[in-house]
Amino acid sequence: MQSSGKPCFLGQRTASLAVAFCLLFDVSRAHSEEGHSSRRPGAVVSAQAKSPDVPTAPADGQDPGRPQKKKKWPDVIYVPTPQPVVDKMLELAEVRKGDNLHDLGCGDGRIVVTAAKKYGAKGTGYDIDPKRIYESRENVRRNGVESLVTIRQEDFFEVDLAEADVVTLYLLPELNVRLMPKLRQLKPGTRIVSHDFDMRGAKPKKTVSLRVNDDREEHTVYLWVVPWEEEKP
Ligand SMILES: C[S@@+](CC[C@H](N)C(=O)[O-])C[C@H]1O[C@@H](n2cnc3c(N)ncnc32)[C@H](O)[C@@H]1O
Repeated sequence: MQSSGKPCFLGQRTASLAVAFCLLFDVSRAHSEEGHSSRRPGAVVSAQAKSPDVPTAPADGQDPGRPQKKKKWPDVIYVPTPQPVVDKMLELAEVRKGDNLHDLGCGDGRIVVTAAKKYGAKGTGYDIDPKRIYESRENVRRNGVESLVTIRQEDFFEVDLAEADVVTLYLLPELNVRLMPKLRQLKPGTRIVSHDFDMRGAKPKKTVSLRVNDDREEHTVYLWVVPWEEEKP
């Protein structure tokens, strides 16, 4: 089962709905599925969440005095991009055969799977949530694109994007901004597309809005090409 809507982002027109939705469904579900006993709104509304320095309990038999591996929580909850918006993102990025597409926070893998099936693009999807990793690998398998798509359980702040031709984002504005130093280093000509959220200070090359069936809200897709034009404040 999937949720729909927008990632939690206070201050957007969808904020109250999205936050309520996230708190009621996604967080409790995601965390209960992972065996966490309490909600962590900080894990939802990204910037504050970064990487809470909360050590996990020592596993049985481990020395409690030794530093324990820290759990990295998702910086943003899972909300899937509707398929027509995925299609528009790939169209705007002019994805073609042989392109190397990286989706930062890949959810169920729909963006990398669509890019592979429709255009023959290679893709890597990164997610930090094991449930999403399981779902996206299943999605890859179901669609028979194993030779083109790899799914990796990694923190998107730490991945190597040197080979990327296209980077896709559906995160939060402040996460996009935190990713900017990394995105700035992409090779010239790399296309970056973001669903719904811009990157403060970077002027998009194109912006497209669309509505999806049964969806009262408009979705926006932003395109930047590296090096992007700086936007004056
Ligand atoms: C809003 S969803 C977008 C899913 C997918 N890209 C799409 O558009 O349908 C954001 C995803 O980012 C993942 N995520 C959050 N923080 C992350 C991090 N630091 N590293 C990797 N993935 C992360 C979440 O688990 C979630 O699946």
